[in-house]
Formats: sequence, structure tokens, C-alpha cells
Amino acid sequence: MTASPLHRSLWLDRPSPVETDEWRPLDTVDVLVLGAGISGLATAAMLAEEGRSVVVLEARSVGAVTTGNTTGKVTLLQGSRLSQIRDAVSRDLAEAYVGANRAGQDWLLRHVRDHGVAFDERTAVTYASTDAGAPTVEAELDAASDLGLPVTARRTLDLPFSVTAAVALAGQFQLDAVDVLESLVGTVRRHGGLVIEGVRATKIDSGDPCVVSTTRGDVRADRVVVATGSPFLKRGGHFTTLEPQRSYAVAFRWPGRPLEGMYLSVDEPSRTIRDAHRADGTYLVIGGNGHRVGKDTPTTENVDDLVRWTAAEFPQAVASHRWSAQDYRSTDELPHFGPVTAGDDRILVATGYAKWGLTNGIAAAIAISSRITGTRPAWAETLEGRPPAFTAVGSTLGAGAKVAGDLAQGWLGAELSADPKDAPAEGTGIVVRDGVVPVAVCTVDGITRRRSAVCTHLGGIVTWNDAESSWDCPLHGSRFAPDGTVLEGPAVKTLAD
Ligand SMILES: Cc1cc2nc3c(=O)[nH]c(=O)nc-3n(C[C@H](O)[C@H](O)[C@H](O)COP(=O)(O)OP(=O)(O)OC[C@H]3O[C@@H](n4cnc5c(N)ncnc54)[C@H](O)[C@@H]3O)c2cc1C
Ligand code: FES
Repeated sequence: MTASPLHRSLWLDRPSPVETDEWRPLDTVDVLVLGAGISGLATAAMLAEEGRSVVVLEARSVGAVTTGNTTGKVTLLQGSRLSQIRDAVSRDLAEAYVGANRAGQDWLLRHVRDHGVAFDERTAVTYASTDAGAPTVEAELDAASDLGLPVTARRTLDLPFSVTAAVALAGQFQLDAVDVLESLVGTVRRHGGLVIEGVRATKIDSGDPCVVSTTRGDVRADRVVVATGSPFLKRGGHFTTLEPQRSYAVAFRWPGRPLEGMYLSVDEPSRTIRDAHRADGTYLVIGGNGHRVGKDTPTTENVDDLVRWTAAEFPQAVASHRWSAQDYRSTDELPHFGPVTAGDDRILVATGYAKWGLTNGIAAAIAISSRITGTRPAWAETLEGRPPAFTAVGSTLGAGAKVAGDLAQGWLGAELSADPKDAPAEGTGIVVRDGVVPVAVCTVDGITRRRSAVCTHLGGIVTWNDAESSWDCPLHGSRFAPDGTVLEGPAVKTLAD
């Protein structure tokens, strides 16, 4: 019995029919892919189908981190992303973003049709339920039509509350992203590739071949694809331009009629709404209450709030699954994919999808695999060709200042009054000082553990996440279990004893 009120997502709450491979000593491979989420497995599947020798190494298990915990919408209308992007970047880049997402969506639709993966067609809807939110929806309608999407304005929706504005895009789809991952694993393995779970990469030496150090041994590869969420490499500094955003989801048993659409609000706190048809019945999936990782504690309140809101709006719904996950938003609003540093295309990265990775992650896979197989889409050239320093300078500086502020606050904020030897109450954790050293102390399942509170990535001070019984770093989003082992983020080492 765990103290955490969050458990498996609706999608991961079943035995996986998928077989993976055992670790073994490997000859040099054409491409080593790190990470078995949507980006890594789609890249591996594309390259394996093209006859490349491919190995995927996954630190935890297939889909364990973000892709297995999505809401599973595959859409080109993405909340208010298009107006945000149109305001932040040049027209060429905004068009390339839409082109990339369209290519990602088309590839995924072909894949699920060809491999018998279930999906539902739905109209994607961005809505506001307040007067203050209506202009954001109107801006999205304008940006989306300007960028070539056949969107329409709506006044009413099949939701139990009224809206002040809504924009809709028909012909989008929703699915179970774990079904997709399982199908991709099958594709990789049918074409001779390997997918190995429980192996974390810790270092990459670029060269001919590259040498990747892992928790099981070294692997040599002509190219390495780092599809690990936030790249763990300090080289390239990608983590400095990514904001880690955690959010929450709850699935409810749903006896009501199917929804016509899949919905996302622009008001704060945001709400994402879709239905899901499973072998054991129909569910309603409600998400929202996002925040920067390591902030907004106690986190349990974010989940309880989703349950209360749903009880008020959909009284027939009965909560069955609660979960949380994080994704990374880049300061220039666009995904990062391509060489880790200009000129080194032996190491390729894919990240920065701002919670829209089911299309952006596939686009990243197309762009990366096309570097290796030769046919480059124009949108990939445009997005990768933006100047390396091209980030919204103001927001990059703002993000840097925020990180520096969080670092100082973490080091200064450890409780001076608490005795480091006291055991916190069950399910709670606190950062205390032992001399000058901040120590993370928590009690979970009756066991009190003490670890260094200093994040092994770059020295941030972790904070307690009560909803998930984890230590989370507000700087770049690394998360650690109560015993200090890495759960996710750019850190690769356990919290020190
Ligand atoms: C709550 C929520 C809802 C979302 N809903 C949607 C949605 O409806 N539609 C949509 O398009 N997008 C959605 N997203 C975004 C989407 O889920 C993500 O963008 C996408 O899943 C990211 O995929 P990924 O492959 O980059 O990362 P992941 O799925 O996190 O995969 C990375 C993998 O790398 C592994 N790894 C990490 N470090 C190492 C290492 N050093 N060595 C080896 N392996 C390593 C991890 O264990 C992990 O399994 C949502 C995100 C969140 C948080
Ligand atoms: S994640 Fe970078 S310092 Fe913790």
C-alpha cells in the first residue's frame, strides 16, 4: 500500500501484451535510441522499417513517464498554441509548426489504421467559459484560419455548462497512447530491432562510433537519438530553454452518452475533457491544474480540485483513476529536434512539445529519421534552421532568472527550526538542515528515509510532492523516489545518502 493518492493512468492500468528484449552485449548499431516514449519509439520504428539496425534503451518501462500518461488527443487545434506561436515567431516558422504537426498526425493516423490500433474521430474544441477568456478563443480562431486550418466558431457545445466562445476543428482523433507504443514496439522488433527496458543512459561520447555509457554497460552506435523527455546531456544546454510543466488527470466511469468533441479550456485553471471507450466500459477523462514542476504544493489539492469540479459538472461520473505527468515547454514555443549542437548530427535530440507530443513527437521522429535516410521535409529544414540562439530572448532571460531565484530560495528555505532526526508524518516530506547541508526527509509506507536534498543534475533543492510521494526539482524538472532513485527529468544519478 503506497501513501501516494495517485496511481496508474487509465491507459497503463492493464497488463501489457508487449514483449521486450533482455539486456545483452551489443555490436555497434546504426542507431541507438534512448527513451521508449512516442518520440523514441516512432523514430526507432521509422528507421527499423528503412532497414537500419536499431536498439531502444528505456530507463524504466515503455510509456512509463509522459506518453503513458497523456490525455491522448491527436489534433492540430491545440488549445491556444497557434495564436501563442503566431505571436512569438515568424510566419515561416508558424507555418512550419503546422506543417510538422500535420505530418505527425498523418503518419500516426496511417500507422494506427495499418496496425489495427483503435481510435475515435472527434472534433477538437478550444473554449472559454468566462468573458475574460473569450478574446483568447477569438485570437485562436483567427490564428488557426490564418494558418490554413478549417476551423469554425461555436456558440454552444455538448457540455453541461455554457461557454462564452469556442473554436472547433472537425476530423481530429483521440486514442490510447499506450496502444500506439505497443504497436510501435512490435514494428521495431518485427524489423529486427531491440527494445530493452530498465537501462538508463548516463553519458554520451560523440565520435565514430559514439559510445554511450549506461547502467548496464557501454553501447556503441553510429548515431544516438536522445528522446528522453528533457535531454540529460548538458551539451547543447537544451534544459535551460525548457520549462517543466506538471499536470493532473482523473478518469471517471461514465454512464452518460459519448461526447461529440474533445475539449480544452483557455481559462485558468484549465480543463481538458474527453471520453474514452474501453473493453470494460466508457470513461470520462478530465485534466488540468498544471504548474511548474516542484511548485504549487501541496500537490494533492490539484487532484482533489479536479474531482470536485467534475462532481459539480458531471454528477453521474465516478472517479476510478488519478494520475499526473509532465512535459516541457520551450521558451521560443517551438519543439526542439535535430543535432544536439550545430554541426554534430551524430547525437540528435527531440523535446519541447508543450503537452502536444502525439503530433510533435512523431514530427520529431520524421525529421530525425529523415536526416539518416535522406528525404528532408521542408518544415523540418525551416524549424531546425532557426538560429540556435533563436529563443524569445525576454522569456529566456525570464526563465533563467526564475531558475536562479528558485535555486537561491531552495538553499535558503530549508527549515531551520526542524530537527533533522524527527520523522515526518506518513505521506509527508520536509527539507531540513543538517549543519549547512539541506536534507530531504520523508515517511512513506511507514519507512522514514533521509537523502541529500541537492538535485544531482545541477544542484537545485528538491521539494516534496505529496500527491506522488516524490522529491521534485523546480529547476529543470528532475524527480526522485523517496529512496532517491531517479524517476524522470535530466538527472541521471540517485540523490546522495
Ligand atoms: C498530463 C498530460 C497530458 C497530455 N496530453 C496530450 C494530448 O492529449 N495530446 C498530445 O499530443 N500530447 C499530450 N501530452 C504531451 C505528450 O504526452 C508528450 O509530449 C509526449 O508523450 C512526450 O513524449 P516523449 O517521447 O518525448 O517523452 P516520454 O514519453 O517521457 O518518453 C521518454 C522516455 O525516456 C526515458 N528516459 C529518460 N531518461 C533516460 C535515460 N537517461 N536513458 C534511457 N531512457 C531514459 C523515460 O523513462 C521515458 O520513458 C500530454 C502531456 C501531459 C503531461
Ligand atoms: S533538474 Fe536541474 S538542478 Fe534539478
